[in-house]
Amino acid sequence: MKEFISEIDKITSQYERKQAALLPILHFVQEKRGIISSESEKEIADYLGIPVVHVHEVVSFYHLFRQKPQGKCHFSVCQTTSCALLGAEEIITHFQQRLGIKPGETTADGKFSLNVVECLGACEIAPMMQCNEEYKGLLNKKKIDELIDQNR
Ligand code: FES
Repeated sequence: MKEFISEIDKITSQYERKQAALLPILHFVQEKRGIISSESEKEIADYLGIPVVHVHEVVSFYHLFRQKPQGKCHFSVCQTTSCALLGAEEIITHFQQRLGIKPGETTADGKFSLNVVECLGACEIAPMMQCNEEYKGLLNKKKIDELIDQNR
């Protein structure tokens, strides 16, 4: 983190206790490096003076933090109750068939990755997913095919 320590210092200066800046620091590091690697977790833990396991727990709890490189187009399909009741499983199966990957994997060309996540707080548009930073709802096979074709 040495390369951007002054920016990290600025983030922590906004908090009474620097440990409270963990989430914004994680977002910042991911923005700079693309992922939160185990090396980054260690650096952040050392900087904040907290156990590395605590940083890892936070990183692995929130699906927004990526621990390994993702495809250029990253699909996170919600599988929680509202989405499940309205066909999330069928959506996930269709993605798997179209992309030839399972949840947690990235296509060999690095274009697409697929993940299954818990409620994204947009149950009113179930079944839904996040496509990179954007929410896509009322999903069906046709919409998925269009999204894949647009991003090929
Ligand atoms: S259950 Fe899918 S967004 Fe809430």
